[in-house]
Amino acid sequence: MTQSIPISMSTTIRKQNKSSFFKNAFLVFIYGTFFYSFQSLAKSHESELTYIEELGKRLFFENISDPERMSCSSCHLPEAGGTNGVSGVNKHQVAVTGADPHTVGTLKPPTNKYVQFLDQSRNVQGLPRFSNCGSFPTFTCGGAFWNGRAKGDSIDNIDIFVSDKYKEMYSKYLGPVTDQAHASPFVNPVEQGKTDKIAVCEQVAATKWGSELYNFAWGLELSCNEQSIDEVFARLAVSLGAWQMSYENNTFDSKRDIALKNDADGSFPLDDFTDEENLGHDLFYGVAENRDDLGFGQARCVFCHLSSIADGTGEFERYTDDSYHNIGVPRNYEIPGSPAPDIGLEATTGNPAHKGSHKTPTLRNLDQRPGGGFTKAYGHNGWFKSIESIVHFYNTAIIKPTCESKGILQATEKQALASDCWPEPEFRDTSALGFIGNLGLSASDEAAIVAYLKTLTDNSVVEELHPYKSGDFDESRLK
Ligand code: HEC
Ligand code: HEC
Repeated sequence: MTQSIPISMSTTIRKQNKSSFFKNAFLVFIYGTFFYSFQSLAKSHESELTYIEELGKRLFFENISDPERMSCSSCHLPEAGGTNGVSGVNKHQVAVTGADPHTVGTLKPPTNKYVQFLDQSRNVQGLPRFSNCGSFPTFTCGGAFWNGRAKGDSIDNIDIFVSDKYKEMYSKYLGPVTDQAHASPFVNPVEQGKTDKIAVCEQVAATKWGSELYNFAWGLELSCNEQSIDEVFARLAVSLGAWQMSYENNTFDSKRDIALKNDADGSFPLDDFTDEENLGHDLFYGVAENRDDLGFGQARCVFCHLSSIADGTGEFERYTDDSYHNIGVPRNYEIPGSPAPDIGLEATTGNPAHKGSHKTPTLRNLDQRPGGGFTKAYGHNGWFKSIESIVHFYNTAIIKPTCESKGILQATEKQALASDCWPEPEFRDTSALGFIGNLGLSASDEAAIVAYLKTLTDNSVVEELHPYKSGDFDESRLK
């Protein structure tokens, strides 16, 4: 391995960074709120990212596919909250056609945002590694993908660090999110479809940004030979993980975050929320007044959609327990080829008790979309097409008649809503049905929960890539 970082640092770039840092810090001080710093994070230019983050960002947005027409962002579009960016696909087939138009997946792309922890000082802490969930998963199991198969250990035995210094800087990025990229969409025939790792490497190495940022971030020349391709490819995966875990991709600047920061006593009800949004919060967290105890009337969402403080005031709340449950989603017959229902967690653990359990997704950015008429799909197979309908499902899943009993087979969401029924779940023998599905919420309660969920939409969207500007190595951008 050759280490070829230029030793001289560009002092001009460093000075610029410093002075804008002080300007920002000063403004934050003046405004007496974090709002400005959120705004500046959202608008950050690539040069404000670390080298590894910038490399990851460019890998994410570049069409590294065969044919060259698909990027990670095709299926994880920032404007759509990190989910698929084509409304018509979300509306019906849900599964996205690969770069090769004769191929198609079988699941809904979950968001790639908020798939990591931050600690209280806003430092990255990777997702927990997958650990055996027990036969009834109620606690954190970790992992990534709907079935948890990206466990977080796939790079452990690959020698990717040129020295201890790099190991110290980048070990925090190893884990499920990085394993997901290592898995890898670039060479998956139903996704970006490159022939092999070398073809991916060659496409990256042919760009100025690719060769330069790889060199700056990893302290090595980018070369795509057979002997070192596994290490190179793993480094690209870690870089993708690093950007996806960056502040730029996880700004925590939704209405809820800002209202919580600005609130006089820092707790609910929030001064800047409407009454409806505050009621939605209370129902979600099971703290609404004048309601029955846990028997009825509470929405119980908090049991699964909680990563930090139980009263809903966690600064970096991600709205997931990092665990797996079967909520009884109906089968989506519109997925091309009508694949058999996805067995979920069982595929990873081999435990039949896990059949049909899927990863609890974050609820952040559920309603982020490129425009008013844009349809998003919800659930692992995207059967649900609106936040309203999935909330109505949680409320009524086991009290309405099944569509099958009314003679309506293979119902879409639209048909089910029109006929006031819910189809049979993909797997009836479920862990969560019974606990959900009969919540006794009124129509206005349901609307309040939807209103609360809509406060979780980030105000900012990751900016499009700026053209790459080549420069001298700047050590301050290593971390
Ligand atoms: C053709 C569409 C498509 C492309 C392209 C694509 N993804 Fe995905 N992504 C998916 C689907 C579908 C899943 C869920 C698959 C599963 O769970 O088995 C997924 C899952 C993920 C997850 C896991 C999220 C979680 O909560 O567990 C992350 C992170 C992610 N993708 C990042 C990426 C990155 C990085 C790239 C580019 C290297 C990429 N994706 C390219 C469709 C796509
Ligand atoms: C028993 C655990 C559990 C409870 C309780 C629960 N959820 Fe979920 N939620 C999940 C799981 C697991 C999924 C993914 C299931 C799947 O697709 O098979 C999910 C999916 C969702 C989705 C779709 C997100 C997406 O990106 O596709 C929304 C929205 C949602 N839940 C909202 C709620 C609300 C609102 C409540 C309270 C009324 C609630 N959940 C209660 C576990 C739970």
